[in-house]
Amino acid sequence: MPETINPLRYPGAKRTLIDYIDDLLHENNLQGCCFIEPYAGSAVVGLELLQRKSIHSLILCEKDILIYAFWKSVFSLTDDLCERILNTPITIETWHQLNHYRQITDVNQASILDLGFAGLFFNRTNFSGILKANPIGGINQTSQYNIDCRFNKTRIISIIKHLAKYRDSVEVYCNDAIAFMKTQNARFLQESCFAYFDPPYYEKGSKIYRHFYTKQDHITLSKYVREVRHLDWLISYDDAPFICGLYSDTGAQYRPFFLDYSCASKIRTKGKELLISNLPLPPFPVGNAVQL
Ligand SMILES: C[S@@+](CC[C@H](N)C(=O)[O-])C[C@H]1O[C@@H](n2cnc3c(N)ncnc32)[C@H](O)[C@@H]1O
Repeated sequence: MPETINPLRYPGAKRTLIDYIDDLLHENNLQGCCFIEPYAGSAVVGLELLQRKSIHSLILCEKDILIYAFWKSVFSLTDDLCERILNTPITIETWHQLNHYRQITDVNQASILDLGFAGLFFNRTNFSGILKANPIGGINQTSQYNIDCRFNKTRIISIIKHLAKYRDSVEVYCNDAIAFMKTQNARFLQESCFAYFDPPYYEKGSKIYRHFYTKQDHITLSKYVREVRHLDWLISYDDAPFICGLYSDTGAQYRPFFLDYSCASKIRTKGKELLISNLPLPPFPVGNAVQL
């Protein structure tokens, strides 16, 4: 298996931060902690840290029921999910058949397997992995790229089976991030916990995710981390003045960086991002993320 594997092609996935967060945990004696991702998405950070044995357990919370149901299926319905992947044609007809799952807002309105497979299907057949987008190749499939060009069944199944081996160390919840965190206070007292908050982007969240944040939601997160006790935390954000203003008087540490940087071409392909934490933030290791 390659070092960082994930079955989703998730917009805003923080693969680039894995080593950095691993170092942050080690420098603060948090290795072996319970690692919480309240905005799970692809959960690429937590899943990799679990495989490296840098953390003891992983708690995932995601508000999008298609993504929640996908992760729930990976860890609880592994064989059924893999069979569904194997037996479903990756075609525009299937895209239309599954389309109604994108309208479902209550997790009890369909089975976890149906919702979870639909989540994977739209993630891997839509433009840029965006669940609310149109399919690769367009509705009329007239482009040179077909709907199945990012759907390598064999590879996806092998990644899912590999990750499912960690099922005893992973919990998956469907909830609003802050509402969920407020249910976890007892856990913070019982074990060493670290929360990695990666909320929807301030600037472009509404274009990418089915659930995104208003200004008030960003304020609510900043209030939560001000008030929470017995929890170390890190937040990653797009570097917007409004966000900086929310944390400027909290005593939190800041570290701006470029999330995606092509060293070969010296072209920065994505915008500036920001890390905020109650812990001292170490320098970046040499790699794709470039410290400013
Ligand atoms: C920036 S992405 C997280 C990406 C993730 N860290 C990764 O590496 O793939 C933000 C995620 O938060 C989810 N989300 C949006 N609003 C939420 C809420 N109120 N509570 C929990 N999750 C939410 C979105 O569906 C999206 O998956």
